[in-house]
Amino acid sequence: MPTLLVNASQVVTCAGPLRARRGKELGDSAILTNAAVAFQGDRISAVGPEPELERLYPDAERVDCNRGVLTPGLVDSHTHGIFGKPRHEEQELRASGLGYMEIAKKGGGIHSSVRDLRGRSEDELFALALPRLRRLAAHGTTTVEVKSGYGLTLDDELKSLRVIRRLQGALPLRIVPTFLGAHEIPLEYRAAPRTREEYVSSIVHEMLPRVAAEGLATFADVFCEPGVYTLDETRRILGAARSHGLKLKLHADELEAGGAAELAAELGATSADHLAAISDAGIRALAASETVATILPGTMLFLGRVKQAPARALIAAGAAIALATDFNPGTSPTVNFPLMLTLAVSQLKLSVAEAVLAATVNGAAALGLAGETGQLATGLAADIALFDIGDIRELPYWYGDQRCHRSWARGNACHG
Ligand code: NIG
Ligand code: FE
Repeated sequence: MPTLLVNASQVVTCAGPLRARRGKELGDSAILTNAAVAFQGDRISAVGPEPELERLYPDAERVDCNRGVLTPGLVDSHTHGIFGKPRHEEQELRASGLGYMEIAKKGGGIHSSVRDLRGRSEDELFALALPRLRRLAAHGTTTVEVKSGYGLTLDDELKSLRVIRRLQGALPLRIVPTFLGAHEIPLEYRAAPRTREEYVSSIVHEMLPRVAAEGLATFADVFCEPGVYTLDETRRILGAARSHGLKLKLHADELEAGGAAELAAELGATSADHLAAISDAGIRALAASETVATILPGTMLFLGRVKQAPARALIAAGAAIALATDFNPGTSPTVNFPLMLTLAVSQLKLSVAEAVLAATVNGAAALGLAGETGQLATGLAADIALFDIGDIRELPYWYGDQRCHRSWARGNACHG
């Protein structure tokens, strides 16, 4: 039986070409009033004037939106959702003046999550991740990318990716898995007799072949940053990932400009993420490429850094930008995607339409899913969020609030 969503104050369709939007295209999120949305099974069957849809679907199950706002389900294209304990102690350390990289050099940061995750079973990690992803969904997210990357051994990376696979079966949310064995150089490879080269080799020769053979990941990612993975190491790892059929992502120019954005464009990566320190050459390279520039404003906020990614310059140059939470225990422990829209408008100086398109259509493009989700349009997946607000501009406005009332992912109840 079809479902008909009626009595919305606005239907923010984001409808248009099934690809990332750039430049002026980002100015219009295609808002309809007096409109309804019909879906059946996992697909949207119609979006249009409410009286017309009432006539077309007389037998539909009607859902009263109570003057709320319908949007495409939000697409969170960057999270590190598989981890054990929280790392609240580092927040105070940073407040007292220690830098993110200094904490990492002392064996904290990512290393601390690695030690913790290695000691936990797959079942434990699954039990921890499940409610965390439910909380993400409670804010309107219906598609989420989840990375491994706190294991850094063959077995612990496979364990993390298997948790993601189990989550796919346990939740209505669409979950896209990414292999991030190159999240850090593990501590045990930093002193003789072992070398970092050996770890990179183990990613290339052991981990990637297994991950690909077991079909455990869609993407491979590398933290390409001065002090973490070099450009050459990143090139080697992502070249191998591609030869195994994986698509590519990069953590690029997060804290220091190091040419990672340029490398992402050169490799034809699906996205280059973070970019708070991107250079002008990096901006030009992304603008001239198909690579989506994914901005994670929650990370800079939480790290207490003043400089956000140059979103306006990226848009002006013609790059396709996306927004995401970067949900992780170290630098962005938030599940609140609408809060990222607040930061996008108030700190990145985006318009609401730009922020909404960056969180839907362009988030989908950052996952290679622009033909599948991110818009309310006939034939696309029934990924829909209903917010308790009367105007889409209230979504970034009520900052930190939880306004998602209900959502559907591929036609299934996802939240509410
Ligand atoms: O996206 N930059 C690398 N990875 C994460 C942080 C991971 C952590 O600190 O646990 C990020 O910011
Ligand atoms: Fe990240």
